Amino acid sequence: MAQSSRSLTDRPSWKALQAHANQIQSTHLRDHFKSDPGRAEKLSLDAIGIHLDYSKNRITEETISLLIGLAEDAGLKSRTEAMFAGEKINITEGRAVLHTALRAPKGTSVMVDGEDVVPGVHEVLGRMSNFADRVRSGEWLGYTGKPIKAIVNIGIGGSDLGPVMAYEALRYYSDRSLTFRFVSNVDGTDFAEAVHDLSAEETLFVVSSKTFTTLETMTNARSARTWALEHLKVDAAIAKHFVAVSTNAEKVTEFGIDTANMFGFWDWVGGRYSMDSAIGLSTMLAIGPSGFRELLDGFHQMDVHFRTAPLRENLPVLMGLIGLWNTNFLGAHTSAVLPYEQYLKRFPAYLQQLTMESNGKHITLDGTAVDYQTGSIYWGEPGTNGQHSFYQLIHQGTRLIPCDFVLFGQPLNQLGAHHDILAANALAQAEALAFGKTAEEVRSDNVPEHLVAHKTFEGNRPSNMILIDKLTPSSLGKLVALYEHIVFTQGIIWNIDSFDQWGVELGKVLAQRIIPELDSAVPTDALHHDSSTNALITKFKALRG
Ligand code: F6P
Repeated sequence: MAQSSRSLTDRPSWKALQAHANQIQSTHLRDHFKSDPGRAEKLSLDAIGIHLDYSKNRITEETISLLIGLAEDAGLKSRTEAMFAGEKINITEGRAVLHTALRAPKGTSVMVDGEDVVPGVHEVLGRMSNFADRVRSGEWLGYTGKPIKAIVNIGIGGSDLGPVMAYEALRYYSDRSLTFRFVSNVDGTDFAEAVHDLSAEETLFVVSSKTFTTLETMTNARSARTWALEHLKVDAAIAKHFVAVSTNAEKVTEFGIDTANMFGFWDWVGGRYSMDSAIGLSTMLAIGPSGFRELLDGFHQMDVHFRTAPLRENLPVLMGLIGLWNTNFLGAHTSAVLPYEQYLKRFPAYLQQLTMESNGKHITLDGTAVDYQTGSIYWGEPGTNGQHSFYQLIHQGTRLIPCDFVLFGQPLNQLGAHHDILAANALAQAEALAFGKTAEEVRSDNVPEHLVAHKTFEGNRPSNMILIDKLTPSSLGKLVALYEHIVFTQGIIWNIDSFDQWGVELGKVLAQRIIPELDSAVPTDALHHDSSTNALITKFKALRG
C-alpha cells in the first residue's frame, strides 16, 4: 500500500524540488512575468468549463515538471485507478473510497467485494427523487393533512456542512415556497432558533447521520421528536414528519423512524465526501431531482477529467501539487479560499472539513511519523468582505498565505454594476498580491518618507484564479470534486490515509466521561481528571447553579 520504503523526503524527486526551491527562492513574481510575456498563457489551463490561471504562483515550468515527477514517483495515476476501481484504499478502516460511484452514470459499473454498486446508487436516487417530488408538489402531507413548508436537516460534520453549503450555494435555484433550516450544534440554541417560527404541522425533519450514533445529531433529533410530539400529540405523526438518511438501518429503527422513510448509503462513502449521496436529500428537496442530477453530472465530469487527463493538464493534480509546493517547499501553513460569490458563503467552512479532516494526519500508511508538513489550514470568507478584515495580513503580514480566488463570469442576480465591481476586486487583489507596490512607486505618489515603508507592498504572494462561467448545480459539482481530488492528490504524495478521522475520537470519549460528572450529585472529590479539568468542572457547576 505504501508508495516506497524510502521516506518521501529522501527521494531524489523531493530533493530535486528542494534544490529547485532554493534556486528560485529569490525570483520575484514581477521578474517571472517580466522575463516571460507568455507566462499567463503557459501557466493556465482550460478544462470542462473551468479556467485555472496558476501563473501567479512562485513557480516556473520546471517547478511543474519536478512536481509531476514527484507525483509519478508516488504512483498517483495507479493510486487514482485503485480508488476508482473500489480497492480498499482507506486502510485504517478497511474500506473502499467510492464517492465517485455516487455520480457514476446509470449503466456503468463499479465493483466492491464482487458486487456492482452503481445500480444500488441509482435505486436510492430514484427513491429520493420520488420522495422529493411528493414533498415539493404538496402530495406528501403532514399528520394533520397539511403540506410540508419547512425542512430541517439535522446532522453534523459531513452530514451538515455539505447540505448547508449546497443549499446556500444553490439557493437561487431552490423552491422559494419551502423554508430550509440546518441544525448541527448540540448547543440547544441551534435547535431552538431553527424551529422557533416553524409550525410542526408543516415541518419535515431530515435526520442525517452516517452512523446514526453521533451524540450531537441524536441529541438534536430527540429534541426534534419531543418538539414535534408537543405539537402533534400522537406517536403516529412521527412517520409523516421524520425521515432518516443513514447507513445504519438498525439504529434508525431503534430511534423510531420506519426504514420505509430511510434513504441509505454505504460505508464506502466518507462523511465529508457524502453531499452527493442520500445526505444530499435536503439539497434535492431544495432544487428538485433534475437540479440534483445536474449537480451529480458536474461531479462526474470532474471525476472523468481527473481520471483521464494527463497530469500536466489536470486541474486537481496541478492545484494539489502547487498547494503541496507552497506547503512543503515555500513554508506556507495555511491556504485562503476566497469565493467572489455570495452564494458560496459556506464553501470555506465546507472545505475545512474536506481538507483538514482528510489530510490533517502525521502518520503515514505504514504507521511511521512523517518528517514533513501535511494538510494545510484552510480558511476564508466570500469576497469582498474579507478585504475589509484579514486581507491586510495577507498583503503585508509576515506569513505566506497562498490564496484560491473563485470568480464567476455571470452573476445570478444582475444588479447595476455590482458584478463588475465584484470581479474587479477579485482581479485586483490577485494582482496586488503578486506584484505589490515598490518603494519607488510609493515615493512617486509623493508619500512622505516616514510612510514609504508602511505603504510599500512586497508582493510575491501566490494565488490561483478559478474562473467559471456561472454558478449552477453543475459548476458547483465540478468545484467540489475539484477540491476532493486536490485532497486525494496531496494525500497520496504525503502517503497518509486521507479517508479516516481517528483524531476526532478522543475528545468524544472524554466528553462521554464528563457528561455524567456534571450532575450536581457528583461531589468534587469524585473527579479524577487533571487539576485543571477538575477545577473547571467544579467552577462550571457553580456557575450553572
Ligand atoms: O467528526 C467526525 C465525523 O465522523 C465526521 O467525519 C462525520 O462527517 C461526522 O462526524 C458526522 O458523522 P455521522 O454522519 O455519522 O453523524
